[in-house]
Amino acid sequence: MTRKTRIKKEELEKEILELIRENPKGLTIKEIADALNICRNTAAKYLSSLARSGEIEERGLGPSKLYYPSKRVQVKGFIDFIKRYGIIMVDSKYNIVDLNSTAANLMGLRSKKDYIGTSVKNYPPFLKNSELCEALNRAVYGEEIAIRDFRDAESFEDIMYYDFTFIPCVYESGEKGAIVIMENITDLRKMEEERKRFLEEREILYDELKQRVKDNLQLIVSMLNLQLRSSKSKNVADELKTALNRIKSIAILHERIYSEESPLEIDIGDYIRSILKSLYLSYEKDPNKIVFSVDSNNIKIDMRKAIPSGIIITELVSNSLKHAFPKDEEGKIWVTIKKIGNICVMEIGDNGSGLPKDVNLQKPTTLGLTIVKTLVEQLNGVINVERRDGTVYKIEFPL
Ligand SMILES: Nc1ncnc2c1ncn2[C@@H]1O[C@H](COP(=O)(O)OP(=O)(O)OP(=O)(O)O)[C@@H](O)[C@H]1O
Ligand SMILES: [Mg+2]
Repeated sequence: MTRKTRIKKEELEKEILELIRENPKGLTIKEIADALNICRNTAAKYLSSLARSGEIEERGLGPSKLYYPSKRVQVKGFIDFIKRYGIIMVDSKYNIVDLNSTAANLMGLRSKKDYIGTSVKNYPPFLKNSELCEALNRAVYGEEIAIRDFRDAESFEDIMYYDFTFIPCVYESGEKGAIVIMENITDLRKMEEERKRFLEEREILYDELKQRVKDNLQLIVSMLNLQLRSSKSKNVADELKTALNRIKSIAILHERIYSEESPLEIDIGDYIRSILKSLYLSYEKDPNKIVFSVDSNNIKIDMRKAIPSGIIITELVSNSLKHAFPKDEEGKIWVTIKKIGNICVMEIGDNGSGLPKDVNLQKPTTLGLTIVKTLVEQLNGVINVERRDGTVYKIEFPL
């Protein structure tokens, strides 16, 4: 029979500790169990409890472990230098052994000296709080416990938030206790809450704004449509139609933005397809006769660049529809968009009658091409035109 049944727990722990202190080079469980005539499981249990409380240290040695006396330092001496965390040391009866000034402040205690020796459970936030008292009990019994985001609505006028860590410890006398580390995270929480509220407000504002922009653009489109229908002169009607298409290409973008997952980027191909459909309707052109294709390789572009790109394409495709096929002949219109490194390369072309010789893209005299030139410059891009079998524009700008 081993000695396990004969002696008390405290005595055995003391004997193990003494044995380890006499052997500073370390001992294995077997050596300890043999020396004290106890079974290995019992030795292992006490050793891990002693290691947890910091009295001994363990180190792996092949498959087994070696146990050493630990080199301990006095905690009491330096807890007052730690300002960020409240630190409270309690004994096995939860009486305060020492605490730093941060802990005293957080607990609403004036002079910390007056409270040493009194139960920590008498003071906020521990007072009448079962969660914290339970954690204290368990820590004294050797368990390390963390409580995050503890909400204290009882102790003070304002709601406070803390992060707690409870660490078991053993005092020189052999008495068990616990060290409580508390961090006041109220400001952090308040900042988070404010940020959340701010984001929610922004979202509401954004939804409102998007709705208004959409409504207003719709209103402008409707008004211009009315004016277009009541216009008696063909020239005025044509001008109105052009203006209408320019606004529509912006309205289409707004429609699209709200269906995108990330409203800051837009699938340029989808956007251009919508613009082209709207232009075909506006100029009453048959897409079976003048076939169009849009090839964009699913490129997404920044909304700030999508608007000028959309208007440029509106102008150039309008020109193809208005001027390239004057005799109602069959034809092709295409838009291709590629991304080469950080550069967006757009090609807008038709196989129609070709741009007249006197039209100078770098010095345009008409509004449509002036708008194109200005917007290309705004994109920090360059534009060139080829006059072979129709008109092909090449535009490059950085993304
Ligand atoms: N794809 C094209 N094919 C043939 N001619 C074209 C083409 N694009 C433009 N042109 C010619 O170039 C001229 C200038 O085009 P621009 O877009 O600046 O003016 P517009 O289309 O006449 O009027 P708006 O200012 O309403 O656009 C046109 O009037 C047309 O004669
Ligand atoms: Mg034009």
